[in-house]
This record gives sequence, C-alpha cells and structure tokens, in this order.
Amino acid sequence: MALSSSHLLGLEGVPAEDITTILDTAKNLKTILDRPIPKVPTLRGITVVNLFFEPSTRTRISFELAEKRLSADTVNFSTSTSSVKKGETLKDTIRNIEAMKIDMVVVRHSAAGVPYFLTQCTDANIINAGDGRHEHPTQALLDMMSLRDKWGTLHGKRVAIIGDVRHSRVAGSNIRGLVTMGAEVMVCGPRTLIPPGIEELGAKVSYNVDEAIEWADALNILRIQLERQEKGLFPSIREYHAEYGITRERLERAKKELIIMHPGPINRGVELDSDVADSDASIILDQVTNGVAVRMAVLVLLSGMDSSQE
Ligand code: CP
Repeated sequence: MALSSSHLLGLEGVPAEDITTILDTAKNLKTILDRPIPKVPTLRGITVVNLFFEPSTRTRISFELAEKRLSADTVNFSTSTSSVKKGETLKDTIRNIEAMKIDMVVVRHSAAGVPYFLTQCTDANIINAGDGRHEHPTQALLDMMSLRDKWGTLHGKRVAIIGDVRHSRVAGSNIRGLVTMGAEVMVCGPRTLIPPGIEELGAKVSYNVDEAIEWADALNILRIQLERQEKGLFPSIREYHAEYGITRERLERAKKELIIMHPGPINRGVELDSDVADSDASIILDQVTNGVAVRMAVLVLLSGMDSSQE
C-alpha cells in the first residue's frame, strides 16, 4: 500500500484514504510492540536521520524507538552539538548529511516551512516532526488513532480543542485531519489565543469552555506555550486557569463521559488539573504509546517497504 506523497509535511490536502491507510497500518504494527522481542526487519538497510532543532521528549524518543523496532539505522542530530552552532546553513547541513547516503529525514524546527524546504535540497523522504506554529502531522495521526481505538470511527464525533490554538501546530494538524475524516471540530480559548480565520479550516469557535465541554465528545487540551507567548495575551496564569482550565468540577457539571487528551508536555494546574490528567477518562498515555505505532507506520509507508509479512 502506498501513500499519495513520498513526504509527510502536514495533513493539509492529505486524503482520507491516506489517513486510513496510516491508521490501519499503525494498528497492525502496534502488535509488534507487545511481542517478547519487539523488533522486525522491515527497514533493514534504511538509514534515518532525526534532525531536532527544537526540544522534544515524546516525538524524538518515539521516532527513534519506531526506527529501532523496524531495524532501521538511525542517526540523531541536535543543534547544540552540531556545526549549526558555528553558523552552517540548513541547506549545507542537509546536503552534507545526504552526502553520507541517508534515506529518510525526520525534522523538527521552530520555523514553519522547514520540512518543505528540505524536500527542495535532498531526495530523502522528509517527515515533519513539528514546524513552528504550522503542522505536527504525526501528533494528529496518533490523536486520531487513539480516538478511533475508543470509538471505532471518527465520523460524526465531536472533538473540542481547548487552549492556546494560536501558537499550536497540533491544533492545525488535528483540525485538518479530523475534518477530513468526517469528525466535527470546535476550538475554544480566549479571543487572543484563537487565530482569526480558523473557521476556514472547518472548525467551529467558542470562547466559553463550559459551552465547548457541553458540545464535545472528547477534549484535546493544549499546552499554554509560554516560550512562544508574546506578552499580554491573557492577564495571568491564575486567571487562565480560572476561565479555561479543565478541572474536575467543570467536568462534573457537564454530567457526561468525555475523553480527555493532551499532546504533552502538560502544564499541570494551568490548562489541565492533575486529577483530570490522571483520571480514568484520560487517554494521554495511550496517545504516547500510539505515537510509536503511528511513526512506525509512516516510516514503513513512505519507505515503500512491505509491512504485510510481519
Ligand atoms: N507532543 C509533542 O510534540 O511532545 P514533544 O515536544 O515532547 O515531542
């Protein structure tokens, strides 16, 4: 089974058939993770470079684990120990890495568009692991996989994405992917954290978190990105928590079962209280487990290797 592109730059324009292929392949590959020896030879002989120009825990480790589970050769690059520190350009960095004969590149960068730029500099398959505020496609795919595990389908389900939508690449990819798969999406947060024109992606907008909770079947709660925040977008962390924080009291008022999600890392006590994050309604750690399976699926499908024999 092949995807319609040889890169995964985002979920904009990715057809439902491709998303379904990735989610179905991830479901099959996930069974490998429960084996006594969780390793298959599918990507033997394939070399993957993980280029992380921004910090990451979940995405970096799960890509690396996915590559190792598939027997790929992996090389890890981080800015702090590279010649980027000496002023080398991104183009020179990737051309030099490519000269060492690599097949695939996983890239995270603070600037939107870097994964696309890399497709213009190298023949390797490029996978976006998060670019600025633009897209984080594998996060949205693992979120959709986690919801599909719960519901069996995404069609007609209601997902509210709550919090710092303005700075969130996770929101952009989730809206695009969920809408393509027939789900309904609402974004909710303070007016200053909801970008104008977001409705054009197919999302409803609410500025009232209780209304969003009332509407939704699942809440995907976003981190307040303190590192990307210009000053003055909301009065204080305390006020944000009072107006938009997801608390047990708020959920109890809704009198219904909701699925609680968060892409991580969580600011506990800011956008999400600990007792909710660690409750039975939370699938936050399932999301992390599914992250390895989804990244295995993306690597296999883009490589063109056959995973059906595993
Ligand atoms: N969800 C996510 O992208 O987490 P990391 O920044 O730790 O990779």
